[in-house]
Amino acid sequence: MKDLAGKHIVLGLTGGIACYKSAELCRLLIKAGATVQVVMTAAAEQFITPVTMQALSQRVVYGSQWDARAANNMAHINLSREADAMLLAPCSADFIAKLAQGRADELLSLICLPRPADAVHLLIAPAMNREMWAHPATQRNLAQVAADGALVLGVGAGDQACGETGDGRMLEPQELLDDVVAFFQPKVLAGQHVLVTAGPTYEAIDPVRGITNLSSGKMGFAIARAAREAGAEVTLVAGPVSLATPRGVQRVDVRSASNMLKAVTDNSQTASIFIATAAVADWRPDHAADRKIKKDGSGQAPALSFVENTDILATVAQSPRAISGALFCVGFAAESHDLLANAQAKRLRKGVPLLVGNIGPATFGQDDNALLLVDAHCSRELPRDSKLSLARQLIADIATRTRAGA
Ligand code: CTP
Repeated sequence: MKDLAGKHIVLGLTGGIACYKSAELCRLLIKAGATVQVVMTAAAEQFITPVTMQALSQRVVYGSQWDARAANNMAHINLSREADAMLLAPCSADFIAKLAQGRADELLSLICLPRPADAVHLLIAPAMNREMWAHPATQRNLAQVAADGALVLGVGAGDQACGETGDGRMLEPQELLDDVVAFFQPKVLAGQHVLVTAGPTYEAIDPVRGITNLSSGKMGFAIARAAREAGAEVTLVAGPVSLATPRGVQRVDVRSASNMLKAVTDNSQTASIFIATAAVADWRPDHAADRKIKKDGSGQAPALSFVENTDILATVAQSPRAISGALFCVGFAAESHDLLANAQAKRLRKGVPLLVGNIGPATFGQDDNALLLVDAHCSRELPRDSKLSLARQLIADIATRTRAGA
């Protein structure tokens, strides 16, 4: 099922060069399953035409409170009553000031003010010059709008259309889509701090070579995203992977198992849930050469000896916080066969209340997976699905367990 299936969004555009990004945003919202009603201010129409937005949204665009197309001549009431949320993107400094004051002198602000605030949430994607963004008046107005219940999605940083560089750019369409999708997810982990490990580790042999594995990190990144969507503060300790950090997730990049152990130990002091998805190397070369190991012409391969890496999950699961129940630990098992038996044995060996089994060769690098949840009493299968969908189901399951244990 698409992430925004059944959701109806009023997409409001106000005056700003970022309007060009709203065309792509509209397309992404629709691709994600939403229906989109575009409303534009007169200033927005200076930057992009209603024709473009109508073609993309497949709906007539509204721009005037005097538009007589609505039978009751009350577009400002009708449009918000149908919506699940209103997204203002871009939202100019001037429009934020209007919202803060509760003014309603044109159609878009006239939709915002009488909307049923509990049912139709207001999401704001500001876009403006960096000085405008930093101005105390703008920040004061934004704080007021947030206090009145709007969700301010933040801004990006970088080059601006005016030639200056700094904070105030509108977030990219994909980032805004992710935020809208996250907004609709149930906040089952609100108040929790989730710590996730993901990806492979890299154990150096010398400065140019090392030992790693085929883990892509996708499952762990999906779990970090799902936990964030569920309202948790999320720290993601990632081995070497080239995946984008999920929105709102704090990422700590590490290379070796030892680096990962240190990052996990530091963050496990404040975490309430630890989910270990990383494919941590079991062994590392006992000594990484300072210089590249060269062929010596003898035809003999260099002799490598290995030492075992600390088991990060087992170590955390034995910590006082985990034993006292303050930290709920979840392990993963990548197996090639006998999934249930291996997962049950591994759960006991690692000393964790929940272990998630999957068939490694069938999932490494893929966008989908199938999971087997094993606890002390039973097992439950989550059938093949996208990794994000499975991650959301797993997070819902963990939320139930941690609530029950609280
Ligand atoms: N794990 C860990 N630190 C390690 C090794 C594993 O934290 N040094 C965690 C993984 O993140 C995963 C779980 O332990 O959550 C299972 O790891 P796996 O490599 O599948 O199991 P092993 O303990 O290596 O057992 P085996 O080699 O028998 O499969």
